Amino acid sequence: MNRKYRKTLIAGNWKMNKTPSETKAFMTELKAILPRGRWCDIALCVPSVCIPAAVRATRDTRVGIGAENCNANASGAYTGEISTSMLVDAGCKYVIIGHSERREMGETDAEVNAKTLAALNAGLIPIVCCGETLEQRESGITEEWITMQIKLALAGISEDKIRKVVIAYEPIWAIGTGKTATPEQAEEVCQHIRTVVRKLFGSKNARATTILYGGSMNDKNAYELLAQPDIDGGLIGGASLVPEKFVKIIEDANQPTT
Ligand code: PGA
Repeated sequence: MNRKYRKTLIAGNWKMNKTPSETKAFMTELKAILPRGRWCDIALCVPSVCIPAAVRATRDTRVGIGAENCNANASGAYTGEISTSMLVDAGCKYVIIGHSERREMGETDAEVNAKTLAALNAGLIPIVCCGETLEQRESGITEEWITMQIKLALAGISEDKIRKVVIAYEPIWAIGTGKTATPEQAEEVCQHIRTVVRKLFGSKNARATTILYGGSMNDKNAYELLAQPDIDGGLIGGASLVPEKFVKIIEDANQPTT
């Protein structure tokens, strides 16, 4: 982390977990133990139907609510889809874009790019995900792969909007597997992502970009991961479903930074 130049963000990704009633109960528990210090931003990205309950329950807190996906079109005949303006109107501040689980369902780099641009235009903070498979890592193409994903995802973003983008590095082999990347492995790729952003948008913008690590980050390993200079927070799946674990990770972000 480096709080002098950029924001730290601890973001939860609930995936397809919790009902609206469970959301309300979770937020009540969370609020009771949420630390008062303001060393990081906090986000919870929840299933669409849970957004109203989450927004209502966190109104008097500094927890920002986010969605887990959006559609890039403004409106129209897209049955089952949700636009960025609907998310804003519902009270969302963030939206996860290009999660590997959605890419697995067929989301393309072009769609990730269109959604990122739409989110920025609507005033949402996109959390843009990238990450390699185990096969890609073992064949030594991690950096090329990540470079390609980032370049395609960020194409067409203007210089004045890039600082609103959060990038999440999530190695696919570490997601939900309990197999976390070592702090060194995670730092290496996050540093590489910053280099790619530097080449595309200049050094000041690269220095100001928040880059998260995600993939089995939990209350046991977060401190060490967050101590890395280019890891500015976490995108947390499983551990964000339990208030005590999520809060422990927020507390772990309260450490001296470079
Ligand atoms: P995990 O999920 O923390 O459960 O590995 C992270 C993510 O997919 O965002």
